[in-house]
Amino acid sequence: MNKWINRVFNEDAVDGLARIQNGSIDLILADPPYCLGKDYGNDSDKLDSSAYLQWMESWIDAALPKLKQNGSLFIFLTWRFSPEIFVMLKQRMTMMNEIIWDRRVPSMGGSTRSFTSVHDTIGFFVNGKGYYFDLDSVRIPYDAETKKARSRSIFVGAKWLEIGYNPKDLWSVSRLHKIHPERADHPTQKPLEIIERMVKVGCPPGGIILDPFMGSGTTAVAARRWGRNFVGFELNAEYCDIIASRLASHEAHLATQNNQPSEPIRAKSNENTKENKRRQKEAA
Ligand SMILES: C[S@@+](CC[C@H](N)C(=O)[O-])C[C@H]1O[C@@H](n2cnc3c(N)ncnc32)[C@H](O)[C@@H]1O
Repeated sequence: MNKWINRVFNEDAVDGLARIQNGSIDLILADPPYCLGKDYGNDSDKLDSSAYLQWMESWIDAALPKLKQNGSLFIFLTWRFSPEIFVMLKQRMTMMNEIIWDRRVPSMGGSTRSFTSVHDTIGFFVNGKGYYFDLDSVRIPYDAETKKARSRSIFVGAKWLEIGYNPKDLWSVSRLHKIHPERADHPTQKPLEIIERMVKVGCPPGGIILDPFMGSGTTAVAARRWGRNFVGFELNAEYCDIIASRLASHEAHLATQNNQPSEPIRAKSNENTKENKRRQKEAA
C-alpha cells in the first residue's frame, strides 16, 4: 500500500504532488483559492490575476500526470477566471460539463452596478473516452407527484421511473451556514452533498481521489463515507486539525449504500426554516 494513501499532508500541493505516482489517481477533485482575497491564514488567495493564472497552470501541470487514463477532474472556480482556466484545461483534457453551483443565496442587497453573483462554476474534464462515470450512483429519485402523474399502465414497471433521473448541470444546494451541523471553521467549506456526488460518479469504490486543496477536508470525509481512498494537501495547520477531527467523527462513518447521503448529515436547506426567515426579515 502506498505510504501516502488516506493522508492529508500539511504541505504546499505543488511540492507534495511529487511524491504521488504518475497514473495512480482515479479522480482529482480540486477546490483551489479563487483569487478573491479570502483569508485562509496564508497569502494563497492574495495573488494578482496574472500571478494567479500562472500558479493555477503550475499546479494543474503537476497534478494531471497523476491521473489514470480513465481518470477525470472536477474543478471549482469563479466566473471571473473560469474562461481562462477552461481554455487552459481544454488544451490538456476533454471538457464534459460546465456545472453551475447555485449557492441558494437568499435575495438581499448585492451589487447595484451589475447582477448579483450567486453561483460557483465547476468544470468537469476527462482524460479520454473510457472515463469512469457511474451515473446510476447519483440518480435523483422522482418525486411522488411525478410518479403519480406517470401511474398510467404504460408506465408501470418503467425502469427510468424507478431509478431516478440524471442530475442536470445546474446544482442548487445551499452553501453552508452556521446552522448546518456539518459546518466547520473554514470560510469556503463545500457542502458534502456536492462533493459526495462527484466522489460517487467519478471514482470507483476502492479507487483514489486526490484533492490538492483540502481546506476542511470535505473530500476526505466524502471518500471515507463512500469507501474510496484519498490523498491531499493543505497549507494551514489549523485546517489540518479540523480535517483530523472530521475524519474521526461520526460524519465520516460509512454511508448507507443507497443513492442518498445518510441522514442526518446536515439540516436540509429549507427556505422556511426559522433561521432563513429571520435572515430575510433582517435583510428587508
Ligand atoms: C477553497 S479552499 C478548499 C475548501 C474545501 N474544498 C472544503 O470543503 O473545505 C482552498 C484551500 O486551499 C488551501 N491552499 C491554498 N494554497 C495551497 C497550496 N499551495 N497547497 C495546499 N493548500 C493550499 C487554503 O489554505 C484553503 O484552505
